[in-house]
Amino acid sequence: MAKTRTQYVCQNCGSAQMKWAGRCPDCGEWNTLVETVVAEPSKSAARAALVPTSAAQPLPAIASDGFARIPLPLPELSRVLGGGIVPGSVVLVGGDPGIGKSTLLLQMASFLARDGKPILYVSGEESAQQVKLRADRLGVADASLYVLAEVSLEQVLAQMEHLHPRLTIVDSIQSVYTEELTGAAGSVGQVRECASQLLRFAKSNNSPVFLVGHVTKTGAIAGPRVLEHIVDTVLYLEGERFQSYRLLRSVKNRFGSTNEVGVFEMGEGGLREVLNPSEAFLAERLPNAAGSAIAVTLEGTRPLLVEIQALSSTTSFAISRRTANGVDFNRLLLLVAVLSKRLGLRLSDQDIFVNVVGGLKVSEPAADLAVAIAIASSFKNVPVMADLAIVGEIGLSGELRAVGQLAKRLNEAAKLGFKRCLVPRGAARQAQGPDGLGLVGARSLDEALEAALVR
Ligand code: TYD
Ligand code: MG
Repeated sequence: MAKTRTQYVCQNCGSAQMKWAGRCPDCGEWNTLVETVVAEPSKSAARAALVPTSAAQPLPAIASDGFARIPLPLPELSRVLGGGIVPGSVVLVGGDPGIGKSTLLLQMASFLARDGKPILYVSGEESAQQVKLRADRLGVADASLYVLAEVSLEQVLAQMEHLHPRLTIVDSIQSVYTEELTGAAGSVGQVRECASQLLRFAKSNNSPVFLVGHVTKTGAIAGPRVLEHIVDTVLYLEGERFQSYRLLRSVKNRFGSTNEVGVFEMGEGGLREVLNPSEAFLAERLPNAAGSAIAVTLEGTRPLLVEIQALSSTTSFAISRRTANGVDFNRLLLLVAVLSKRLGLRLSDQDIFVNVVGGLKVSEPAADLAVAIAIASSFKNVPVMADLAIVGEIGLSGELRAVGQLAKRLNEAAKLGFKRCLVPRGAARQAQGPDGLGLVGARSLDEALEAALVR
């Protein structure tokens, strides 16, 4: 084993220092030195480096699908992972505190433990009793699910060597520390070093590891996204804390497509998969209320129908307010500006609130038209036609722009029983609406509003 020592590496310029300092002596940036373990170069290693130890192979000689995935009986989770768990892969599950990461992973562990092979759940944050309490609540009681309440990485690795688990879960990576570094658990150096050591174990034993990562206030996992580069797959569990829906999103996946989402609902017995999310999101809709419009958005590769609600009311202050819940605030300002300038709606003295029902976040411009129509509908106090779904991006001149993957969106709208879909004019000529779905084309926001509001 190579001798190691620690040094402080600047995250900005890459220079290595023997001592920690608040400011990097080379580039002058503040707070960039991070404690790092480095291998001491030895003479024999330098000589050995001249002799290749692993042979380069011609590309066709490499087997392409060497990994037989471990199947997961949870279809939503399995899809987000790209179709099961790849042996030897390291998956990072990030999310706000209390969103349900531990619950999701404990449920997954329980499913996998059913065929009798050991699964190791390392809990650095909660005691074994706390894990047991959660397990009782979830109805999990598998004999081959092992719980280890430990924060020392060396102990965790020793336990993994001993148990040869089929899967290891480390909850959370911020709570474990290695004795090789002096930094506190959760510091950038510690998190990175612990993750790399777990990665080495996973790769050399072909045993997958799931890491739980907390999201910092700025939204990055463990500081400056140090972990995302190291691991194979990054999943984010998101949702509003006081809403029951949770979205599991893959933002990086070396073994599958990114941008997949799985939809779950948090209930008394843990997370339940929502197999038909559009239906769930529209369940409480009041069809003839002013200010409500249905957008057909795409989450990754999956079409989702969501209700966009807007409320416009005369302000009682000198400056009117705009509040965006689930849509981008700047996008909302832009749409309000287009509505005022191109359609002449007097929105300057209106407080405007926009909300996406179910705690979803819609970041696609394809939802523009639904947001704008919802605002206009509330302002005019005229409802949107109940059987109409809406797709379209709005340009600064109030023109409607085509959106990607229209056929997929139309299929979903038809499946949920919508009779008509409002689309940009160009698309109305091309795309054939699926069974029973009439396409209503509009060139501008003006025309779209004309077609959408009840007369
Ligand atoms: P948890 O998995 O502990 O979140 P994280 O690990 O991301 O911090 O979940 C915490 C929340 O989930 C907590 O507020 C309680 C709620 N919950 C349920 O609603 N139902 C359940 O069955 C469980 C286990 C938790
Ligand atoms: Mg937790």
